Amino acid sequence: MDKLIVKGRKRLAGEVNISGAKNAVVAIIPAAIMAEGASVVENLPCIEDVSCLCKIIEKIGGTCQYIDRHTLKIDATGPLDTCATFDEVRKMRASYYFLGALLARYKKAEVSLPGGCNFGVRPIDLHLKGFRALGATVIEGDGVVKVYADKLVGTSIYMDQVSVGATINIMLAATMAEGITTIENAAKEPHVVDTANYLNMMGAQIKGAGTDVIRIRGVEKLHGAQYAIIPDQIEAGTYMIAAAITGGDVLVKNIIPKHMDSLTAKLEEMGIQIEEGDDSIRVCANHPLHGVNVKTMSYPGFPTDLHPQIVALLSVCDGISKITENVWENRFQYVEQLCKLGAKIQVDGRVATMEGIEKYHGAKVSATDLRAGAAMVIAALAAEGETEIDGVRYIDRGYEDIEEKLGALGADIHRIHVAD
Ligand code: UD1
Repeated sequence: MDKLIVKGRKRLAGEVNISGAKNAVVAIIPAAIMAEGASVVENLPCIEDVSCLCKIIEKIGGTCQYIDRHTLKIDATGPLDTCATFDEVRKMRASYYFLGALLARYKKAEVSLPGGCNFGVRPIDLHLKGFRALGATVIEGDGVVKVYADKLVGTSIYMDQVSVGATINIMLAATMAEGITTIENAAKEPHVVDTANYLNMMGAQIKGAGTDVIRIRGVEKLHGAQYAIIPDQIEAGTYMIAAAITGGDVLVKNIIPKHMDSLTAKLEEMGIQIEEGDDSIRVCANHPLHGVNVKTMSYPGFPTDLHPQIVALLSVCDGISKITENVWENRFQYVEQLCKLGAKIQVDGRVATMEGIEKYHGAKVSATDLRAGAAMVIAALAAEGETEIDGVRYIDRGYEDIEEKLGALGADIHRIHVAD
């Protein structure tokens, strides 16, 4: 597995372009197979999860053709195999969207249970509850979920817990159900809105995405559409934090600044200067920075997917900081790794307390999951000496060209290819 080697304490400066959102594209690519026609997806991030989704589509009978590195044509016109129970499906959690998409179009699907990042129990009970409410029969067993229905009928669904994946998956299925479906206590994340916008361009009738009530009037058919993915809120946040930890001056471009509000508020509280443009944010940091307290929440709260990264920064801020994790109970696997670089972190249940240290010292660490990997990179950028990060395949799942983008900002970072 590849490694990243980082020689730290280089101040980041310049401009970085943010790619399309991973969490939007992993819903939009499966949604594309709901149409009898081709879709063209633009602003596609060049990440491992996209390659994996393309393989899944081709294995069930569709085609994926790159027009250029960031534009993909997906054609699932022909009949598709509704059974997706092979390795690529098991590799990524977001393959659960094939359940909703195939159920919508063919009223049946058989999909392996999802994998993805390894933190905490990641159930899909809310997704399945939603499918059942729409009239589907759901059978689970041997690592596979089977759903089928004579027809799907719109209904009112109240989500016990705010779930991004369940909101999108139920929205996919309801798009081609008879009548009206209402999803209450829906997730409001930008990628929920992006998926709804794409479905609407395909002919769906979805209203209210981005609020906690989504109303879907079912349609019989969808057609292909051309659609540009929104910028990645989490990638943008990662570069903003990377700029801050190096005392840098970085213009983070091609973003929606509104999506960054919960992070910019915290960075400002820490003493970092933020300048918002129409589609960019400039981050300018001078040490010392003050520790703050952070609580992760669903959108518009502070995203759990920026939790490890902000802790990497808070660990070198003055004083005591706390983070409360409200979404994933076992998100703290990165802590042990960060402590190898010198961080002082105590975890008690869902709360981690950071005692600010003067600086990190390079060491050998592992990316234990995607965002933990991003946190290792951030800490390494600020560390004295050399840090070796393994498990880079996790980072590649969600960050396009990470070493090139950081290198262009002045970081000393390179990859060593290691055969698996
Ligand atoms: C999505 C993101 C992930 C992010 C998470 C929270 C994608 C592909 N991934 O994951 O990066 O960390 O949102 O913002 O978009 N839950 C249940 N039952 C369910 C589903 C979820 O109990 O059926 C619980 C989970 O255990 C978790 C919480 O709900 O505690 C939120 O999970 P959810 O929003 O569903 O996360 P994902 O959609 O899987």
